[in-house]
Amino acid sequence: MTNKKFTVSSFLKAKEKGEKISMLTAYDYSTAKLLDEAEIDSLLVGDSLGMVMLGYENTLKVTVDDMIHHCKAVSRGAKRAMIIGDMPFLSYHVSIEDSIRNAGRIVQEGGVHAVKLEGGREVIDKIRAIVKAQIPVIGHLGLTPQSINMFGGFKVQGKSEEQAKKIIEDALLLQEAGVFAIVLECVPEGLAKIISEKLEIPTVGIGAGKYCDGQVLVTQDMLGMYTDFVPKFVKQYSNLCDSIKESTRLYIKEMQNEVFPAKEHTFSIDEEVLEKLY
Ligand code: KIV
Repeated sequence: MTNKKFTVSSFLKAKEKGEKISMLTAYDYSTAKLLDEAEIDSLLVGDSLGMVMLGYENTLKVTVDDMIHHCKAVSRGAKRAMIIGDMPFLSYHVSIEDSIRNAGRIVQEGGVHAVKLEGGREVIDKIRAIVKAQIPVIGHLGLTPQSINMFGGFKVQGKSEEQAKKIIEDALLLQEAGVFAIVLECVPEGLAKIISEKLEIPTVGIGAGKYCDGQVLVTQDMLGMYTDFVPKFVKQYSNLCDSIKESTRLYIKEMQNEVFPAKEHTFSIDEEVLEKLY
């Protein structure tokens, strides 16, 4: 196992060398520790925690304080991976000052190494200011879930020439503003390929095909333990839903039949002491 930390420059070097960047989401200490030990390059404390951890129907209710709470847990669990914290809805839309302060809190209090925020030209002034404050930023284009009400649902973006050109232009603008990578979510594979070829910084795809410079998935989707909604682009590498339910049923049964706890799970006391207690 390599102990070398994955950093902003590792992202850029990986692209230069043609090595794919691996990223998964993490929201808690023990999962972050496991993924880090498995040598994931980067952990994203995504605002998807709103759905996966908090049971909301989308990401819009997630607050900066929610993000900091989960970033703290992940940063305690991961030693090697680069940790990125999402800036939640409305935390970078009001003013430049507000955006720098919120990004700063996520890094300073949450202990992450970088922030991610959604959008292109509309938020470019905020991105420039956050980068100027020495906080590394990763962009996010295509299906940006915080704009769900504008898109009218979770839909693939960039299928028309006009939409695709806008995403390409935004990617170039983000690069020029100083982001060190861009997440491309739910865009056609051919478009993601063109963007990845045009950019010097890496792209990290989710539902964007194989030509991106890296891939990201929601860990609970990838492990088959979140089934409220399973998007087409998810591959389930495990079926933890079934194995968690099976283990839970077995625990209930064994506990009811006094199979558990067994001797090895039990503490003893001297008989002499015990007798005096009756
Ligand atoms: O919030 C999140 O988990 C994300 C990824 C799906 C890219 O933004």
